[in-house]
Amino acid sequence: MSVLPFDDRDGFLWLDGKLVPWRDAKIHVLTHGLHYGSCVFEGERVYGGKVFKLREHSQRLIESGRILGFEVPWTAEEIDEATMATVKANNIVDGYVRPVAWRGSEMMGVAAQATTIRFAVATWTWPSYWSPEARMKGIRLNVSTWKRPHPETAPTASKAAGLYMICTMSKHKAEGDGYEDSLMLDWRGQVAEATGANIFFVFGNELHTPTPDCFLNGITRQTVIALAKARGITVVERAIFPEDMVKASECFLTGTAAEVTPVREIGTYTFTPGDITRQLITDYDALVRA
Ligand SMILES: Cc1ncc(COP(=O)(O)O)c(C=O)c1O
Repeated sequence: MSVLPFDDRDGFLWLDGKLVPWRDAKIHVLTHGLHYGSCVFEGERVYGGKVFKLREHSQRLIESGRILGFEVPWTAEEIDEATMATVKANNIVDGYVRPVAWRGSEMMGVAAQATTIRFAVATWTWPSYWSPEARMKGIRLNVSTWKRPHPETAPTASKAAGLYMICTMSKHKAEGDGYEDSLMLDWRGQVAEATGANIFFVFGNELHTPTPDCFLNGITRQTVIALAKARGITVVERAIFPEDMVKASECFLTGTAAEVTPVREIGTYTFTPGDITRQLITDYDALVRA
C-alpha cells in the first residue's frame, strides 16, 4: 500500500480544462457527486508512455455519464488530449490513469439538473510488478454475500462510482478473512465478476465467461476474448452458476488493473492455472506493449 496520501503529492492533475498543481485539485464538501453518487470514472493503464485503449476508455466515460443522465462537457478527443497532457506533465512511463466526471455544487437536492459537470484526470506511476511466472501462482477469492444488482435497480452498464459501494464492502470482508478478492454473484445467483475485474473459466479446451448483462463488459474482457479467438480457442459467453465451477480447470480475472490474473481458489472450488491462462497472459502483455 502506498504511504503517500493521494491528496498530498507532487505533480499535476487536469481539472476542468487545464493542468493544476496536484495539491490544488480540490472540490467543496457540498458536491452533488459526493452526496448522491452522481459520479462516473475510468481506470486506465499507461504502458511505455502510451495509454492502452485510451479512446475506448474516454468513450466509456462519456457513455457512463449519459447512463446517469448527464453529458460530460468534453468530447472523447478532448478527453484523450487531456489524458495525454496529464501523463506527460507527470512523466508517467508505466502507470495508472483515473479520469472522473461528477455533478458539482450548484444544487444540493436529489434533483440537480442545473449542476455543472466537473471533469478531472489524475495519473500516477504504477508498474505491473509480477512476472508471468509469479502471477501463475494464482490468487484466492471468497464468495461475497453482496449481489450484483438487477439492471432495473442500478445503472449496471455504467462505470458509476455508486456501484463500487458493494465492491468495497465485499473486498474489505474478503481481505479481513485472508482472501485477495471476492467473487460476486448476481441477483439470480449466477457468477458475475470480481470486485474490480471480469472472470473467465476454462472448461475442457474452451474459455467460458458470464454474459455481461448486469455488470461491466470490461475493455480487458473484450480484448482477452479477441486474443483467445485469435489463438483458435472457442469462447462461450453464458450464464455460469457457482456449482458449474467444480468442472472448471483454470480460472482468471481480467481488468485494466488486474490485467490477466490467475485464480487458484474461489471458496471451496480450486483451479490450477495452466496453459490457456499462461498463453493469454503472454498475449495480453505483448499487446499492451506493442
Ligand atoms: C467492477 C469491474 N468490473 C470489470 C472491470 C474490468 O473493466 P476493464 O477491463 O474495462 O478495466 C472493472 C475495472 O474497470 C471493474 O471495476
